Amino acid sequence: MIQNIEKRRFDCLVIGAGGAGLRAALQLAQADLHVAVVSKVFPTRSHTVAAQGGMNAALGNVTPDNWHWHMYDTVKGSDYLGDQDAIEYMCRAASRLVIELEHYGVPFTRLENGRIYQRPFGGQSQNYGGDQAARTCAAADRTGHAILQSLYQQNLHARTHFFDEYFATDLLISEQGVTQGAMVIDIASGEPLIIEAKTTLLATGGSARIFRNSTNAMINTGDGMAMVLRAGLPIQDMEFVQFHPTGVAGLGMLISEASRGEGGYLINRDGERFMERYAPHALDLASRDVVSRAIATEIREGRGCGENADHVLLQLNHLDRDIVINRLPGIRDLSLRFAGVDPVDTPIPVFPTAHYTMGGIPTNRMGQVVAPVHHAPEEAQQGLYAIGECACVSVHGANRLGGNSLLDIVVFGRAAGNHIIEFLADNRFHTPLNEDSIDQAMNHIQRWDRKGKGESVAAMTTEMRLLMEQYCGVFRTQEVLDEGVIKIRELYDRLNSVRLGDHSKTFNTARFEAFELENQLEVAMATMLSAAARKESRGAHSRLDFPERNDREWMKHTLYFNRDGGVLDYKPVRTQPLSVDSFPPVERVY
Ligand code: FUM
Repeated sequence: MIQNIEKRRFDCLVIGAGGAGLRAALQLAQADLHVAVVSKVFPTRSHTVAAQGGMNAALGNVTPDNWHWHMYDTVKGSDYLGDQDAIEYMCRAASRLVIELEHYGVPFTRLENGRIYQRPFGGQSQNYGGDQAARTCAAADRTGHAILQSLYQQNLHARTHFFDEYFATDLLISEQGVTQGAMVIDIASGEPLIIEAKTTLLATGGSARIFRNSTNAMINTGDGMAMVLRAGLPIQDMEFVQFHPTGVAGLGMLISEASRGEGGYLINRDGERFMERYAPHALDLASRDVVSRAIATEIREGRGCGENADHVLLQLNHLDRDIVINRLPGIRDLSLRFAGVDPVDTPIPVFPTAHYTMGGIPTNRMGQVVAPVHHAPEEAQQGLYAIGECACVSVHGANRLGGNSLLDIVVFGRAAGNHIIEFLADNRFHTPLNEDSIDQAMNHIQRWDRKGKGESVAAMTTEMRLLMEQYCGVFRTQEVLDEGVIKIRELYDRLNSVRLGDHSKTFNTARFEAFELENQLEVAMATMLSAAARKESRGAHSRLDFPERNDREWMKHTLYFNRDGGVLDYKPVRTQPLSVDSFPPVERVY
């Protein structure tokens, strides 16, 4: 089969052109490596463009700050599931990398003294849990947009080779387990293409589209995670899905935490500022899991707003008009378009919405994918890397702090790039491609050529999203999760009966939606099974039947493999930082 398929060769393949993929590609291209970036959308349409509030770094421009306080907040925010070596690495690197972005052309908002503007965000403190810190570097409320554009321009300058609108389906792996590139399809022609590479880096983003209400772009379908599962490797901590407290009610679009950072607050139907009861110290800037649960509780207890008492209100109309207009222009625009209100004079109806996948492909802090081999301790998978939201390094543990995701993509994009450069110095040659791996990838692609009547991709996608929302939402119980496991397994099995109505090749987007459904079902299975197994509450995983965190039994990472209907395993949290004392688990209050 291999003879008939077009083939291209590169030193490095990067799959995904969001901030993580572009930051890694830039490092590689600047080192004069031959780099291919494959993206199913035009790069500047990647989901990083939607990141609003900003990027954390202890610059100390607005309040006193240092990276050690940032590290403390991140460990605490993760509910002690984050790996402290990776967290230290990220927080230490942050300030330098913000300045580097500034030099790449990111137009950060400025303070009067010319320094980069920083706003307060949830879970940030001075002096290990003291006063609120202002650590989030912002370009108004379009920070991700600004970063993505600048990184794309830098990559064009560095001569990165882009395959725009190509869809990656499968990793190609040698008999010895070395990743040799990927099978991709040109969306325009429908033709497969083998991209052979000495290293392959996955930067395919998250999977929060498996939920009905989501801040995520339609493209966030867990493609990289599913590719890794199909290659027999595990994904990690998938039960931890972040629900952002403030999505537009009923629709899910993101209303940035920046709106609360700038002084906005939440009220219930009685006009009560209810966060005073849930987080007396941090109030509306408690971490996201805490605020989301507070909103869901207000509604459950009958204090929701509107005709159906199904949302709360985010009030910004007490703020100076200029703050809303100049610092939150995107939020104002979104509110006008989707909620039909102008926040300078009317509160915005909001409800928690699926936002971020804390879990993902397990990696070390150099971005190397790690996995246990035949129950032996985990080891790095030769030639395979993952970074950004598709990865779990794990700096976010059970709950990510706002502003740490733009930081994560830049820090680990650069780190993975540097590791690949070193790796390639010792591994200079391509190895012969494994024909079995290519055959498997082609069989996978041809699966969607089957003709005849069957279920529709769109109907099954809608069913899956509703199911995830109903059975694996903000609050969880064993009974509901167990039922969810049965239902998601049924859906997974029914995938076999799905058929495409249109088998044409040219720009057949229905074909790619079928691949995306497959990928989402893999991730949904991992999420539901991992959630049903974890019998404690930690971070975003909130069990009404196990309301306490249980460090003795559950301070461990979950690993999910897609064999035998879904198999779980566990591995320890890395509690030892690189150079400072560990932060041992204590009760988490805000
Ligand atoms: O609320 C926000 O602006 C989102 C930021 C983030 O998820 O880091």
